[in-house]
Amino acid sequence: MKNESHMSQQEIPKKPTVRILISLILAIIAVIVWLKASNIEDTPTAADNSRALIGGAFALTDHLGQPVTDEDFKDKYMLVYFGYTYCPDVCPMDLQIMADSLRFLNPEQLEQITPVFVTVDPERDTVEIMAEYVKFFHEDLIGLTGTLEQVDVIKKAFRVYAAKADDSRDYLVDHTAYTYFMDKDGSLLQHFNHGEEPEQMSAIMASLIN
Ligand code: NI
Repeated sequence: MKNESHMSQQEIPKKPTVRILISLILAIIAVIVWLKASNIEDTPTAADNSRALIGGAFALTDHLGQPVTDEDFKDKYMLVYFGYTYCPDVCPMDLQIMADSLRFLNPEQLEQITPVFVTVDPERDTVEIMAEYVKFFHEDLIGLTGTLEQVDVIKKAFRVYAAKADDSRDYLVDHTAYTYFMDKDGSLLQHFNHGEEPEQMSAIMASLIN
């Protein structure tokens, strides 16, 4: 009897406690959702963040077999895309868009920009394969490859995700498909999504360099 009353004494105050807890959790969720929503609207902060987060030092080999670092690209704006030459669709499409966007620029604007294609598949994308590949898209396009470790460094610097999709010999590589427009100091000015409109991309670049 004493035991029973002790148990019910414990259980009765529990119920309002649970309700208060649920209300608290809901309130916390509401605050988190509100904070996230207000963060999204706060574009200057978001832009500043990504500007600081994207980019960094790297050392790679270009499609002519010359060693290059991030310092070699700092006299110009850099338009850079990460992918791989065996990519069946996404990379060719985005590199074509990149090339088309450059054709909307005037010669003065064009000579201030270095278009770059960085492979995320250096095991297959040798210097020779990169040289064959980049010339299909644009005469100025520079292909960059390197060791797995060197490519990992630039992938991390640009927050690029890339991973083999399977273990077969003709493996595909899952990868992020952003095109980054970098300032002369190597910091991010603008990023473009997969399938961007070339004319729109060109207009944005022109507005940023003029
Ligand atoms: Ni691709």
